[in-house]
Amino acid sequence: MRNKISNSDVGLLRYGIREIVDVAQKIGEVDKDFTFIGENIGDPIAKGWMVPKFVKEIIVEEVQKPGDAVFGYSHSRGNPATRKWVTEYAKRFSPSSKLDYEYVLFASGLGAGISALYHMLPAGARVLQPTPSYPTHASMESFNAKADPIIYKLDPDNGWQPDLGDMEAQIVAHPDIVAILVINPNNPTGAVYSKETLESIVKLAEKYSLMIISDEVYFRMVYNGLEYAQITEIAQGRVPLVVMRGLSKDVPWPGGRCGWLEFHNVDLDADYKEYAEAVKKRVLMEVCSVTLPQVVLPKIYDHPEFEAWNRAYNAELEKNGNYIAEVLGNTPGMKVNRTNGAFYMMPLFNEGVLNDKQTLPVKNDAARAYIEGEVSKPGFPLDKRFAYYLLANTGICVVPASGFFSPYYGFRLTTLDRDEVRRKDTYARLSAAITEYTKSA
Ligand SMILES: Cc1ncc(COP(=O)(O)O)c(C=O)c1O
Repeated sequence: MRNKISNSDVGLLRYGIREIVDVAQKIGEVDKDFTFIGENIGDPIAKGWMVPKFVKEIIVEEVQKPGDAVFGYSHSRGNPATRKWVTEYAKRFSPSSKLDYEYVLFASGLGAGISALYHMLPAGARVLQPTPSYPTHASMESFNAKADPIIYKLDPDNGWQPDLGDMEAQIVAHPDIVAILVINPNNPTGAVYSKETLESIVKLAEKYSLMIISDEVYFRMVYNGLEYAQITEIAQGRVPLVVMRGLSKDVPWPGGRCGWLEFHNVDLDADYKEYAEAVKKRVLMEVCSVTLPQVVLPKIYDHPEFEAWNRAYNAELEKNGNYIAEVLGNTPGMKVNRTNGAFYMMPLFNEGVLNDKQTLPVKNDAARAYIEGEVSKPGFPLDKRFAYYLLANTGICVVPASGFFSPYYGFRLTTLDRDEVRRKDTYARLSAAITEYTKSA
């Protein structure tokens, strides 16, 4: 008899952002009139954003160089010239940065970098996760720990800022916590954290000798008059700090699969340095990360047109986000914080608004039967029920907040859609569907 090959911890890997796409696919198979409107995935390309011409020109030039170097493997930790550029780049935001290029590690997408980080933590070491959480972090951390995530609250009544009291209470209650994860600007809430908030988090990390992991993949996407506060500056020389960046969102090139980890303050303590060395070894096992984006990225970010492109991108995201916040904020039963960074929003249902009898009409019999079968499963979250009916009724695909380990019912949407007519139509229909659903029972 063979030993089991299936892993009983697989239930800890949850990715609601994509799971709902399988539901849409099933509806599409039985309902030929079904039109999918994906407001679920943060892929700018899928929502009409074009890679700027100067970026394409840089890529073409590199691809055509004699020797075909970008088709080969790169250094296992990443192209050395690019890693050196990353250290110089860090100084532009935090002039006192002492980041060493030997502690800059490239990965084939930040998703791969996230897996490597959690994988190399010793058994029993936990990383405190925000909730609502970004599922790759929360899932990979909890899968590695073989236990549910330990979470601190982001506060919807305080513009989705971290609840610092809850953060400290969790640290005190769980002595196995070795690090705090901060995602800023935040996915899924669209919040941007103030300098004071970051200072308080760094103080907590100092008080309890913790490492900070700062996912900053959206750090160039900040608007509505806010400024991005640099935790690298605040935490300089104070606590172990791993910063994560990538070019999926701002170039935007999510299919390029390129992200990197920066280990700041490595000389602070020997244990942290050993951990960084362990992650280096883990990255080595992957042979190398995708070569082309690594090689071209300094040229992209240093290109004279990049800043203008980034400003225009942010201005449009600001306009889209504020429009959506107004429409949904005026929908009865909803609590909405506007988006100040990244390109997500998490509207919440006010308490008591949802129940397990509410429905929306689904014309196609087979689609209706499928949805009814799904939502009647035991323990089906109320916001997931709403998202399934919304999908079958309108084709609009949002991700239920419960898919982000959220304690509140709501859903996450992206503010990316560039097509104004479609965007206005989508949010008018979404608002009407919320009203119809919440009144249905
Ligand atoms: C907060 C955050 N971190 C990491 C990632 C992963 O990015 P990548 O495309 O580099 O894997 C995402 C993707 O949506 C994200 O939102």
